[in-house]
Amino acid sequence: MAEFTLPKNSRYSEGKSWPKPEGAKRITEFRIYRWNPDDGKNPQIDTYFVDRDDCGPMVLDALLWIKNKVDPTLTLRRSCREGICGSCAMNIQGQNTLACTLGIDECKGDVVKIYPLPHMPVVKDLVPDLTTFYAQHASIEPWLHTDTPAPGTEWRQTPQDRSKLDGLYECILCACCTTSCPSYWWNGDRFLGPAALLQAYRWLNDSRDEATGDRLDNLHDPFRLYRCHTIMNCANACPKGLNPAKAIAEIKKMMVQRAI
Ligand code: SF4
Ligand code: SF4
Ligand code: FES
Repeated sequence: MAEFTLPKNSRYSEGKSWPKPEGAKRITEFRIYRWNPDDGKNPQIDTYFVDRDDCGPMVLDALLWIKNKVDPTLTLRRSCREGICGSCAMNIQGQNTLACTLGIDECKGDVVKIYPLPHMPVVKDLVPDLTTFYAQHASIEPWLHTDTPAPGTEWRQTPQDRSKLDGLYECILCACCTTSCPSYWWNGDRFLGPAALLQAYRWLNDSRDEATGDRLDNLHDPFRLYRCHTIMNCANACPKGLNPAKAIAEIKKMMVQRAI
C-alpha cells in the first residue's frame, strides 16, 4: 500500500504510524485525527493497523481495540454501543455517523479515515465540544408546556395524535445532522440547526402541548429558523433515518398559517 504523506500546506503535523499487529492475517488500516490541547502541537493523523480476527465488526470495536491494545491515549466518547445514546457520532469516510452502528466492512476503500464531527471545537481527538449544541436544544424548551390543570392520571393522547410524533421522537441528539449543515457551519452561533429545530417541531406537533404560539414566537427570527436553505445535508446525515429538513419546512408552514 502507498505510504501516506500529508500535502505541503496541510494544517496537520505528520502523525505517528503504529506497528502492525504481529502474526495478524487480516488487517485493516485506520487513519485517525489526533489533537491534544495540552501539548501545543498541531493536529495530526495517526495510522493504526487493526487485527480484524481479534476485533469486533463495527468501527467502534476497532477504535476500542486500538485504545485497549495499542494506544490508550486515543480519546473518544461512547456509551451504549447500539445506536441509542448518540455519543459515538464522528466523521467516518467523510460521512457523519455513529461508529457503533457502522460496520468496518461497510467503509469503502482500503483505509478507514476518522475525524471528529466537523466544524465544532474539539475537546480532544474525536471528542467535539457540544456545549452550544446542547444549549440550543435547551432553548427550544423540550418539555410539555400546559396551562390547564394537570389531569388526575396522565396527559392523554389519541393513537392518531401520538403517531404524529413518529419520525421526531426517535432523535438521539447525536449532532450528525447539525454538524453536516453548511448554514450551521457559518452561523452556528445564531442558527439553531436541524437537530434543535426537529425537536422544536416535535413539541409544536404534540397535541398535548399548549404553548404553540410562544414556541413559534421563539423561533420567529431571521437566524434561528430561517437560515435553513433546504440543502438537505441533514436528512442525508441522520443515522436514525430522520428528516430534519422536512420538520423545518413544517415549522415554516406553521409560521405562514399563523400569519394568515
Ligand atoms: S435542510 Fe436546512 S437544516 Fe438541513 S442541512 Fe440544509 S440548511 Fe441545514
Ligand atoms: S435528527 Fe438524526 S442526526 Fe440529527 S441529532 Fe437527531 S438522530 Fe442525530
Ligand atoms: S455508543 Fe451510543 S450511539 Fe454509538
